Amino acid sequence: MEKTFLMLKPDAVQRKMIGRLVQRFEDKGFELLGAKLTRMTMKQAEIHYAEHAGKPFYGELIDFITSGPVFAMVWQGEQAIAMSRTMMGKTNPLEAAPGTIRGDYATDKGLNVIHGSDSPESAEREIANMFEPGELLPSGPPI
Ligand code: CMP
Repeated sequence: MEKTFLMLKPDAVQRKMIGRLVQRFEDKGFELLGAKLTRMTMKQAEIHYAEHAGKPFYGELIDFITSGPVFAMVWQGEQAIAMSRTMMGKTNPLEAAPGTIRGDYATDKGLNVIHGSDSPESAEREIANMFEPGELLPSGPPI
């Protein structure tokens, strides 16, 4: 079982897409361990996007991700990292296949609806950046 950090970006929250995007991952059989609507601080944004520091679009990326609320989530499942990235589609909306989240909803490289971890190491760092350990709860048996 693998954990991944998925984040619905400010464009997705503003477009009222939280429900339908969460639904896709529930339908896929992933388990939701934690979720919150929050606004990334500048520090959290810099930690989250540390690998992009210095790139031409970095300033734009930080401005956008801190511009409004995001919906941060931790999901668990078999190969959750690779599987969720397949479900998200490519970063460039021109290359994102129809049926993927970005293929269906994104029109811009920056305003591209969702972020997903690209490795177990990134997932661990990104989760720790946005959640306290006590905020992650495995779902119990059905009531
Ligand atoms: P994300 O998965 O959040 O990780 C890095 C982000 O950088 C990526 O999604 C895009 O939103 C953003 N990004 C990548 N390339 C560009 C670009 N050329 N212009 C603007 N943003 C970009």
